[in-house]
Amino acid sequence: MKDFIFKLPTKIIFGTGSSLDLKPVLEQYGIKKVMVVTDQGIAGTKGFQDLLAGLKAQNVDYCLFDSAVADPPIEEVDAAREVLLQSGADGVIAVGGGSSIDTAKAMCMLATNEGSVRDYLFGGTKTVTKRPLPLLAVPTTAGSGSEVTAASVITDEQNNIKLSVTHEYLMPLAAIVDPLMHIGMPPMITASTGMDALTHAIEAYVSLNAEPLSDMYAEKCISMIGENIRTAMYDPTNIEARSRMAIASILGAAAMVNAGLGAVHGISQAMGGIAHTPHGIGNSLLLPYVMEMNVAGNPKKFARIAELLGENITGLSDTDAAALAVKAVRKMASDLRIPDSLKDLKIPVTPDMFDTIVDGTMAYRLLAVNPVKVRREDVYEILKKADH
Ligand SMILES: NC(=O)c1ccc[n+]([C@@H]2O[C@H](COP(=O)([O-])OP(=O)(O)OC[C@H]3O[C@@H](n4cnc5c(N)ncnc54)[C@H](O)[C@@H]3O)[C@@H](O)[C@H]2O)c1
Ligand SMILES: [Fe+2]
Repeated sequence: MKDFIFKLPTKIIFGTGSSLDLKPVLEQYGIKKVMVVTDQGIAGTKGFQDLLAGLKAQNVDYCLFDSAVADPPIEEVDAAREVLLQSGADGVIAVGGGSSIDTAKAMCMLATNEGSVRDYLFGGTKTVTKRPLPLLAVPTTAGSGSEVTAASVITDEQNNIKLSVTHEYLMPLAAIVDPLMHIGMPPMITASTGMDALTHAIEAYVSLNAEPLSDMYAEKCISMIGENIRTAMYDPTNIEARSRMAIASILGAAAMVNAGLGAVHGISQAMGGIAHTPHGIGNSLLLPYVMEMNVAGNPKKFARIAELLGENITGLSDTDAAALAVKAVRKMASDLRIPDSLKDLKIPVTPDMFDTIVDGTMAYRLLAVNPVKVRREDVYEILKKADH
């Protein structure tokens, strides 16, 4: 077995109603005045209003920043840092999906590290040296897993690309996971963010950096999503399914933080930069096509994915069983009504964008751990297949 380091330092506080009792957690981390960071979509939800009412009822000194935006751009994040510095807050609670949590991660980091977030993005001129302001996360999607990861994904609008700041200091101190924050999640967000979590697990599981601990998290994530994602979408107030999806998202993220990702995220992130394809939709659409390419790199693990998704693989060769994994993922996405063609996206990805997407994909840091070596022509091939 090769050497490895496994990291999952974020404290996970799971409980129905846990988002209504934040004061003890804030006290534990010595936070005296907290800034609550979220986006406009979440600010209007009952779950968020209840969370704020809980802070008020507990006499917590807080201020609100509810202008995080989807796929946070560099300029917005830099401006948000100024708001944080001027607020006098000594800690942050991010309430939201990946976009709000990633905004808060970058704000907390920039509060103690000089410069623009641009300087800290992959390939940039600076690295994080100082501990950020303390950050707690209350996830409202079961998808990105940002509540336990080291990354903040930021959009560089000048260059039409999404890049990350990645440093273990960015990992939230605690994730307060409350299924009550998920029951109002719209069906398509439930579906697409859940498919993002599944993609994290599958990419981490077959990654060249996978090891037994990351495999354990990935396997459990894949089976929990297979068993619960449809219920979470079609029976949205089912607390048990919501709880299981929320935990699956953390499991997938734990696998991803430690084992890495692969070509699905590489292509999808590049698509996000140019066509603003929502992260989970892009991943879900691309996942079966990339799996088809990747099977050759690890047929045994793809066969096991089929089994974890409930397929009967008895008596089949690994390659035949692996084909069932691809089929099961396609069926899942189709049950969830996620498009499987680039033409059917709200903002269609068109062939004139392919060159930019291929360039962005080839520059993706984690492409190196994809189970088969990815060449430019492979990415074109996937995009052409997905453009039907
Ligand atoms: N940091 C990481 O490790 C990591 C990992 C994966 C993805 N990401 C990034 O995270 C972002 C995507 O995050 P996401 O998929 O969680 O979605 P998101 O945060 O972008 O939210 C999507 C939409 O759903 C709404 N929403 C979220 N929760 C809701 C709820 N409970 N009720 C009603 N509306 C709700 C939001 O207002 C928003 O309009 C992308 O930028 C992606 O690149 C980061
Ligand atoms: Fe993702």
